[in-house]
Amino acid sequence: MNNIQDCYGINENGHLTIGGADTVCLAEKYGTPLYVLDENKIRRQCAIYRDAIKKHFPEGSMPFYASKALSFVDIYKIVKSENIGIDIVSPGELYTAISAGFDVSNACFHGNNKTDADIEYGITSGVGYFVADSREEVEAIDRIAKKLGKTQKILLRITPGIDPHTLKAISTGRVDSKFGTPLIEGKAEEITSFALSKENAILCGFHCHIGSQIFEPAPFIDAATVMISFLSDMKDKFGFEADVLNLGGGFAVKYTAEQGEVNISEYIGEIAKNVTNLCEKYSVKMPKIFMEPGRSIVAAAGITLYTVGTRKEIPGFKNYISIDGGMPDNPRYALYQSPYTVVCANRANAPADYKATVCGRCCESGDLIAEDIKVQKMDRGDTLAVLVTGAYNYSMASNYNRIPRPPIVIVKDGDDRLSVRRESFEDLIKNEVL
Ligand code: LLP
Repeated sequence: MNNIQDCYGINENGHLTIGGADTVCLAEKYGTPLYVLDENKIRRQCAIYRDAIKKHFPEGSMPFYASKALSFVDIYKIVKSENIGIDIVSPGELYTAISAGFDVSNACFHGNNKTDADIEYGITSGVGYFVADSREEVEAIDRIAKKLGKTQKILLRITPGIDPHTLKAISTGRVDSKFGTPLIEGKAEEITSFALSKENAILCGFHCHIGSQIFEPAPFIDAATVMISFLSDMKDKFGFEADVLNLGGGFAVKYTAEQGEVNISEYIGEIAKNVTNLCEKYSVKMPKIFMEPGRSIVAAAGITLYTVGTRKEIPGFKNYISIDGGMPDNPRYALYQSPYTVVCANRANAPADYKATVCGRCCESGDLIAEDIKVQKMDRGDTLAVLVTGAYNYSMASNYNRIPRPPIVIVKDGDDRLSVRRESFEDLIKNEVL
């Protein structure tokens, strides 16, 4: 197992633990498939960002947890008590955050196509910042704020034209992107001038997000360089000094023993050094810096537990281990071939010397979780754990093949509590007009 994250362990019974809790006991108590989250690990990750940003950037700088990575009521409660903001991308995330009692004045509302209804809901709920993706959105935010007799702070999303060297599907800051406004042909300048002409949409600064699962600080520094040079242009052209620069999210997480580690505080320190120098070089006031980590807050804190069913050996081809979940609870291998570490939770100390492909239960050949990896030889009834599933698993889960979504159990200091119930068959048809 190589202890790829500090919240996993193996106890005296040879069982995998997370946050000190025995995963085999959890699987027995709550059934499988089961998402398990270690609350203390999430809190530690929040603290790393909060403390590093506070240390290196001007007052008012802060992290905003990108809740698309994992959105349910309890996560907003945890994040709220850690005193960090949130990034939301839909009225559904906004509603969930409000249901958790989150003060959404500490929220950035994202999305490349917010409807008028989304905008009105956000403004009336008191969302701190809208990240406006286009000229139409600036116009709509201004118009709706005026109608409501309010003003609304906005940031403009700019695509800095940086290739973050990650998967194309999760790379967002290149010029050819559905997100934001590109710098080319004066487009970003044009939208800035348009936003500055508005009375109810109040321009506070700029945003960029270059992609996800990025292992190096260099692409962030490249993006900051482009953005600060742009800030300087906007100061020269319009006398506009940005109060906020939001650098987005994207720090990578270690999913397998082969992958490297991101030292978040160190990287933030490096980015800060560069941002400070760039502001000096371009004679712009150092803005408040916002960052929007999603994956690196919650991924490592989560595992998914399954029960093994059929094991099938196809001589000369593959050995398949089937589990009672799959792409409905974790579509990331099917979508991106994202690598995962798999462990036999009830024999975690046994040698991982069996080459296997872990497959789900859907009627679909691509329903795989990992291909040709080394694991313990597992048989029907064993508990199989997939590690580092806290981000973009529950939030991307579906009911494909009418499979109910698993519950979420949160462990803290060795205790466990049910946070999200397992979906029932009744839930599956609850919206159907019978
Ligand atoms: N800010 C913005 C504007 C974003 O679009 C994203 C992620 C984040 C922050 C958070 O990025 P993170 O720190 O989590 O890398 N479903 C894909 C990931 C899509 C990321 C979308 N945007 C996956 O499962 O890998």
